[in-house]
Amino acid sequence: MEACYRTAVFLLVTTAVLGSPLINDLEPGKYWPERLSVKQPNEPEVEYTTFDDDLISTTEATAKLTEDEADNAIPEIISRAAEAEAENKVDYSGAQVWKVSTEKNGVRAVIGLLRRRNLIATWAGNQSYVDVLVKPQAVENVTRVFKRENIDFNIIIDDLQKRINEENPPLDDLEVELQDRRGHRMTWKQYHRIEDIYGFLDYLAKTYPAIISVRSIGKSYEGRDLKVLRISNGQPSNRAVFIDGGIHAREWISPATVTYFINRFAENFQDEDDDIKNIDWYFLPVVNPDGYEYTHTADRLWRKNRKPAIARQCYGTDLNRNFGYRWGGKGSSSNPCSDIFRGSRMFSEPESKAVSEFIKNAAANFTAYLTYHSYGQYILYPWGYDNAVPPDHKSLDDVGKAMATAIQQTGGSQYTVGSSSGVLYPAAGGSDDWAKGQGIKYSFTIELSDTGRYGFILPTSFIEPVAKESLAGLRVLASYVNKY
Ligand SMILES: *[C@@H]1O[C@H](CO)[C@@H](O)[C@H](O)[C@H]1NC(C)=O
Ligand SMILES: *[C@@H]1O[C@H](CO)[C@@H](O)[C@H](O)[C@H]1NC(C)=O
Ligand SMILES: *[C@@H]1O[C@H](CO)[C@@H](O)[C@H](O)[C@H]1NC(C)=O
Ligand SMILES: [Zn+2]
Repeated sequence: MEACYRTAVFLLVTTAVLGSPLINDLEPGKYWPERLSVKQPNEPEVEYTTFDDDLISTTEATAKLTEDEADNAIPEIISRAAEAEAENKVDYSGAQVWKVSTEKNGVRAVIGLLRRRNLIATWAGNQSYVDVLVKPQAVENVTRVFKRENIDFNIIIDDLQKRINEENPPLDDLEVELQDRRGHRMTWKQYHRIEDIYGFLDYLAKTYPAIISVRSIGKSYEGRDLKVLRISNGQPSNRAVFIDGGIHAREWISPATVTYFINRFAENFQDEDDDIKNIDWYFLPVVNPDGYEYTHTADRLWRKNRKPAIARQCYGTDLNRNFGYRWGGKGSSSNPCSDIFRGSRMFSEPESKAVSEFIKNAAANFTAYLTYHSYGQYILYPWGYDNAVPPDHKSLDDVGKAMATAIQQTGGSQYTVGSSSGVLYPAAGGSDDWAKGQGIKYSFTIELSDTGRYGFILPTSFIEPVAKESLAGLRVLASYVNKY
């Protein structure tokens, strides 16, 4: 009886072990079995409410607002039609950014409601705070609601348009002269238009043809190229790393940082460490060029791509909710007007589709996928789709922490490391989940600086320090890639 029982247990355990493919040992593109996704080690106690319009229960919040407050939606600052014409830039004069504590019960519901009434927009947040953009006409009413509900907040930016005006001043004469002599217009003293970024990539391919090539992996909705730059010494044994930026249009520090990496590796390749030289690097600095250009010409705070929804009242899909790993779940919206609209189906957008096809079909053996965003100073690993982590979470956590340590040891910023769902909130359809699902060992979303003082409107003086400390983190990643 006892022996029989033991045999049964033994069989059960062996089957479970042998029958569980190891992470990165499954067929790429298949979902990892749920049983292989373990619970968060330190699951937080807070209840998960995301910033999704569709998910926040409104009944409680409605009860807390007077009828007027609940029913009087104000129109968008600029109508969508005017936005589409892009004749006038969206003006954020008088708009404010507040850091709001969400620890009290019901705060998120109030925020969700105010947002649906178009009085506020939410920026970045974590489990205890959210940064909220308060529209100019709404400052008075939202202040009143927050005071009455005893919601704690600090005004971080008291005139957003002023910050936008000061963010990206023109280069001085000396810099312009240098630009003309260098053969490309890219600098890390300014945020550049896509033309300068692509001119820089093409210049490098022409200047260093032995190690650098540039190709377009597809076109954006509006027909812009999606340019990938590859740096490689051509050794067939090399592992490969894919790095992208600019999935979200308004996160300007991201393309600036990714192009900084490119510049450093390209201009110093022979003198680089073996860890860098023995990797095939693939860089896509701007995944969302249409949105990126739109943030320069029309609306500094645009996030999504620029494909109109079928009904055409609203534009854009959140490309970081459109990737095909457990697409459509938590923290993504089916409403085309939402900032986290997931698209009509997985990979419905040309930009996310092009990235996934390229990674899937490349001969390169990708061992790491890094996607740079802003802001908040986080190094995040899967899963994003739900409150769970993959079975190799310990090794992802170790690498993330080693990167964070390296960043801080440069005298740099402090980064928080964890799974996206655990540190922030669940958000399905992210590119990092999909990359992990493809069997790419080290998949990270990196939220660059800052932690909310400037938020998305990070002055140009931050570009070099942020990019430089991020490079220290990337070097650590490279050493793990070579060891793997
Ligand atoms: C502010 O509240 C008042 C009274 O509750 C309301 O009449 C007004 O329309 C509100 N303003 C905005 C911009 O929502
Ligand atoms: C959340 O954000 C606040 C304000 O930016 C910060 O003080 C706090 O440390 C953050 N918490 C976590 C868990 O990252
Ligand atoms: C890809 O790299 C992994 C280690 O990262 C290695 O085990 C595997 O053999 C490589 N595959 C190919 C096709 O080179
Ligand atoms: Zn982002």
